[in-house]
Amino acid sequence: MSYCDVLLGGQWGDEGKAKAIDVLSPQYHGIVRYQGGANAGHTVCVGDKKYVFHLIPSGILHKNTLAILGNGMVIDLEALLLEIQDVEKQGICLDQRLKISLRAFIVLPVHRQIDLFKESLRSNRIGTTGKGIGPAYTDKTARIGIRIEHLQNVKTLQEKLQENFQEKICLFEHLYPATGDDFRNYLNTKSTAQQLHHLFKQLQPYIINTENFLQEQLSHGKSFLLEGAQGAGLDIDFGTYPFVTSSSCGVSGALAGSGIAPKYLREVIGIFKAYVTRVGEGYFPTLIQEKSQQEEIRTKGKEFGSTTGRPRLCGWFDVVQAKFAIAINGITKIFLTKIDILDTLDIIPVCTGYIINGKTTHVFPAIYEDFCQAVPVYREFPGWKTSTQEVKKFTDLPLNAQKFVHWLQEQLHTPISYVSTGASRDEGFAVETT
Ligand code: IMP
Repeated sequence: MSYCDVLLGGQWGDEGKAKAIDVLSPQYHGIVRYQGGANAGHTVCVGDKKYVFHLIPSGILHKNTLAILGNGMVIDLEALLLEIQDVEKQGICLDQRLKISLRAFIVLPVHRQIDLFKESLRSNRIGTTGKGIGPAYTDKTARIGIRIEHLQNVKTLQEKLQENFQEKICLFEHLYPATGDDFRNYLNTKSTAQQLHHLFKQLQPYIINTENFLQEQLSHGKSFLLEGAQGAGLDIDFGTYPFVTSSSCGVSGALAGSGIAPKYLREVIGIFKAYVTRVGEGYFPTLIQEKSQQEEIRTKGKEFGSTTGRPRLCGWFDVVQAKFAIAINGITKIFLTKIDILDTLDIIPVCTGYIINGKTTHVFPAIYEDFCQAVPVYREFPGWKTSTQEVKKFTDLPLNAQKFVHWLQEQLHTPISYVSTGASRDEGFAVETT
């Protein structure tokens, strides 16, 4: 029986999705990335080798797994080519294994500039990755976006670009600050069309109608994992708007961004870190206020963005936020990561509710201003003060760690099916019965 599982971030991104995908990949014929672009940074450690992916699903490390870039993505072709070259240099063969959707949109060089300009003009910065993601999705919804399909013919492409650049030329002339760069470099239809067509030619062997391909594969009993980037808290609809990314990171994005029908969906796997991190702007209720503890978790957890290198803010696990992510996405099981980072702590606080304007609530607020007033209510767990890194089964976890995992599972009404205790592929274990 063919089926698809969705794997998505349950917090504000950086939950350790790449490691989870790497662990789970052998169970599927292929991995389909369904949204976002090179704003994502997915790190996988195998032995002493570290791989960082931005666009290609990390499942590519398993030699029989297909890696599909779905129609919901916005793809920076130059970044993709560099990533392909990098992957191939490491001895990984992509032939017949990498597939790129004809319907995916592309990130134009001008999108990156607009992303940076918009951030510099905003009084309330979003703290984007500067990869042009927002402007590329803006063009998609404005129906002037450039899709991979448009790159085949230079003349058609030039016409599409002309339409796309019309408004942007006015914006650059009148609104965006002078950068020293001549903006016409980014808005020259002829040279941009040639440049994009050249990139297209190099990528052509991988470009197909992925939606049709997936339908055929599914009709032949194959199964796929749909890979989300970023996380539930950054979702354009259900995240902490406007401090979000520009796509649907959740389960609805998985269907829209892959062309897979709901009837194939089996499990929705939510990846949650045992604490929470956030990079970029936006209110973060459980932010660790104590500076030395913030530093300790950040250093131990290597909490620095794989795309931008920015330090991530660290906070305590937030049950209110997690429950909302589980409800909205129908998460059926949890992959809990980085429990080892808590190994040395005396006390582990977990947020169980918010106090907003004097009232306690367990509901994630729909009004962002209310959310900004949220004062977390903590329950404190005694630490286990023992390394969990070598642990290979649940009952071998220190007792306090078992209690912590059990309690989370009960609170979230969702089984924790895997506990990750380190960055490497072999650090962690599936939870059989808890
Ligand atoms: P954008 O996706 O570059 O537009 O950035 C919008 C927000 O999402 C910013 O707060 C970014 O820091 C955040 N963001 C985007 N991609 C990631 C990611 O892969 N991990 C964590 N945060 C991300």
